[in-house]
Amino acid sequence: MPTSTINPSPALSIGPLALDVPVILAPMAGITNTAFRRLCREYGAGLYVSEMITARALVERTPETMRLITHHPSETVRSIQLYGVDPYTIAESVRILVGEDRADHIDLNFGCPVPKVTRKGGGAALPWKATLFERIVSAAVTAAGDVPLTVKMRKGIDEDHLTYLDAGAAAEQAGVASIALHGRTASQHYSGQADWDAIARLKQHVTSVPVLGNGDIWSAEDALRMMAETGCDGVVVGRGCLGRPWLFGDLAAAFSGSDTRFRPGLSEVAAAFRRHAELLSEFFESEERGCRDVRKHVAWYFKGYPVGGGLRTQLATVESLDQLDELLAGLDHSQPYPGDGAEGPRGRAGHPKRTALPEGWLDSRELAEDERCGLTEGEGDTSGG
Ligand SMILES: Cc1cc2nc3c(=O)[nH]c(=O)nc-3n(C[C@H](O)[C@H](O)[C@H](O)COP(=O)(O)O)c2cc1C
Repeated sequence: MPTSTINPSPALSIGPLALDVPVILAPMAGITNTAFRRLCREYGAGLYVSEMITARALVERTPETMRLITHHPSETVRSIQLYGVDPYTIAESVRILVGEDRADHIDLNFGCPVPKVTRKGGGAALPWKATLFERIVSAAVTAAGDVPLTVKMRKGIDEDHLTYLDAGAAAEQAGVASIALHGRTASQHYSGQADWDAIARLKQHVTSVPVLGNGDIWSAEDALRMMAETGCDGVVVGRGCLGRPWLFGDLAAAFSGSDTRFRPGLSEVAAAFRRHAELLSEFFESEERGCRDVRKHVAWYFKGYPVGGGLRTQLATVESLDQLDELLAGLDHSQPYPGDGAEGPRGRAGHPKRTALPEGWLDSRELAEDERCGLTEGEGDTSGG
C-alpha cells in the first residue's frame, strides 16, 4: 500500500491516491527513468510518472521495457505512463501492470507530437478520432480496476482541430481519475507560450475529476500562478525541473505557504549532478551507460553558473564516475547561486510545424476501416521515446 494513501488531508486526490502536494513530474522520454524520479523525490513530494512505455512492447515483454517499468523500493507510488493506439493492446498492457502488481497509477499518453507517432495516428493525433479515443480509455479504465487510470493530452492537432474539451468530457465519462492538459496543440510542438486559458476552460468543463495543468512552469511561483489563474487542481511539471530536481522542494514549500526556495551554490549543483550520474549508473547497471546518459543533463544543471567552456565540454563527454569526480573537483565550489541566469526556460523549444498525419485523417472524427489497418503500426516497439 503506498504510504501517501494514508494522508488525512490530501492536497490532491487521484482516485485512491492522496498526494501531499498537487504536483506531478511530467513523463519525459529519456529523462524520467527511476534514477531521475528518485532524485526528484529526494528533494520534494508529489507523483513522479515514468517515461512513456509502449503498450505493445510491454505486452511482448521486451527486456528493455521490463527494465523501464521497474521501480526502486523507495518509489512508494509506482506510476507508469503507457502509449498505444489500440484498445485491446492497451487493455492487455494495463492488465499486466495491475495483475502482476507492478503499478499504483497508470497514465495514458495522448500528447506526443513526434511525427513518427502522429503520422500513424498515435499520440496527440489520436483524440481526433473520438470513438477510438473513447474505446481506448474505457478499455484501460476497466482493465485498471481499482488502480487509478489517468490521461494526459494536448489541446488538439492545431487551432482548427481542437479536441481537448470533447476528449476531456469523454475521458471523464469513461471513468478516468484525472485529466492533464498541456496547453499547446500538436502543431505547436514546444514553441510559443502554453495556453493556460485552455486549462481554465477544461477545468470549467470537467467537473467530477481533477484537472491538472501543464506547460511552462519554470518556478514554484509559476505553479502557484497557474493554479490561481486557471483553477486547476494540480500542476504537471516537465522541462522546468531539468537540471534542477530541487524544484520539487520549492514546489512543496510554495504549496505549504513557505517562501523558502533552494538557491544552490555551485557546490550543491555539482553534488546533485554527481548523485544523478550515480543513480543512472545504478539504473543502467553500467557506469559507462550512466555516465553517457548524464551528459545530456550538463547544460541544464550548470545553466547560469560560471563553468568554463573547456570544463563543460569535458563534462559532456564524461566516461566514468572517477573521471566525473576529478572534473567536478576542478569547479570553483565557492561560487554562490547566480540568480536569474540559473532560472527560466530550458529543454525543448523549437518551431511550430504542421502535424504529420495519416492520409485523410482530418476528414472525419470517426476511424475509417482502411485507417484501422495502418494504426497499429503506429505503436512501434520502443519504450521511453
Ligand atoms: C524530453 C521530453 C520528453 C517528453 N516525453 C514525454 C512522454 O514520454 N510522454 C508525455 O506524455 N509527454 C512527454 N513530454 C511532454 C511533457 O510531459 C510535457 O507535457 C511538456 O514538456 C510540457 O510541459 P513543460 O512546459 O512543463 O515542459 C516530453 C517532453 C520533453 C521535453
